[in-house]
Amino acid sequence: MAKNVEKDALSGVETTGHSFDGLKELNNPLPKWWLYVFYVCIAWSLVYYVLYPAWPLGSTYTKGVLGYSQREDLAKSLADAKAAQAKYLDRIAKASVEDIQKDKDLLSFAMAGGRTMFNENCSACHGAGGQGAKGYPTLADDVWLWGGTTGDLYQTIKGGVRQGDVVETRGAPGVGMTAFGRDGILDKTQIDQVTEYVLSLTNRATDKAKADKGKTVFEENCVACHGDKGQGSLAAGVDGVGAPPLNTAAWVYGGDRATLVQTITNGRAGEMPAWSKRLDDVTIKQLAIYVHNLGGGK
Ligand code: HEC
Ligand code: HEC
Repeated sequence: MAKNVEKDALSGVETTGHSFDGLKELNNPLPKWWLYVFYVCIAWSLVYYVLYPAWPLGSTYTKGVLGYSQREDLAKSLADAKAAQAKYLDRIAKASVEDIQKDKDLLSFAMAGGRTMFNENCSACHGAGGQGAKGYPTLADDVWLWGGTTGDLYQTIKGGVRQGDVVETRGAPGVGMTAFGRDGILDKTQIDQVTEYVLSLTNRATDKAKADKGKTVFEENCVACHGDKGQGSLAAGVDGVGAPPLNTAAWVYGGDRATLVQTITNGRAGEMPAWSKRLDDVTIKQLAIYVHNLGGGK
């Protein structure tokens, strides 16, 4: 073999005997840097085999002397996260909603939890940002039927509204806005007059004479619940009735003439489920905090 070694005429380097399309491969040594990197890699892989999990062995594998495991790592960080959460949840369980509101850490934790639970449980009726819908009050303004402090909200969410089998519920089952027309308390003319008066509370009356007559009907039939200026039961200092103000643009059912006539004729008694039946106390507290911070909390 050695005898037949062919040398490249130009560079004087031996060839390997391989030739490609007439190009001959020269037998140059590997570059030193490359060779050393290669040796280091081999050495590193040996060290790695010893230290870390490496070779599959049937149903198991070589564990390595460090005993490292990504699965255990993940399990540990999950457990850590849970423990950190448990710490907060535990503190929320022991604190009152007012105290949570004052603690910056707890507040931001409760807001995050509240937002998730709100989207899951409440947005179907009250809208994603609590903006409300016909028959479902807005939770993002400062008009409240049952009170807007965190304590009020906590109770409303917990006991619901007009729920028969729940002690702490708001209002009494079936008792709401009287059906003045259906129950024969007011006739059509009186309903027409009082509707005109209610429109006048937001400067939308079209018939002054009718509105004046309606004022009398209102004084005789409505002030007990809605207040003398139609400011709503809470603003009039009448608690536990849940009568909305009639002098703002925030309508639950609607402030147009046809809807007003319908409400006054047939009455209304909105119901909300009692969430104590479905959610734990810690969640309800977080929801109360979240709703309070939607913009209209008092
Ligand atoms: C099935 C529909 C429905 C769902 C779901 C619902 N609500 Fe309500 N909610 C209502 C209705 C209807 C009222 C108005 C009751 C009334 O007429 O007084 C109400 C009233 C309220 C009030 C009182 C508003 C005020 O002006 O005082 C709060 C607070 C409230 N809901 C919060 C929540 C929260 C928080 C959730 C989720 C855990 C939720 N609601 C889920 C229907 C719903
Ligand atoms: C017994 C108390 C009570 C009396 C009396 C009463 N209301 Fe109401 N009214 C309510 C309650 C409670 C609601 C809210 C019902 C609900 O949330 O479903 C309401 C709702 C309304 C609404 C709907 C407001 C909205 O935001 O959509 C109008 C309008 C209204 N009342 C007008 C009147 C007028 C006019 C009278 C007098 C003729 C009157 N009410 C008498 C308790 C009363």
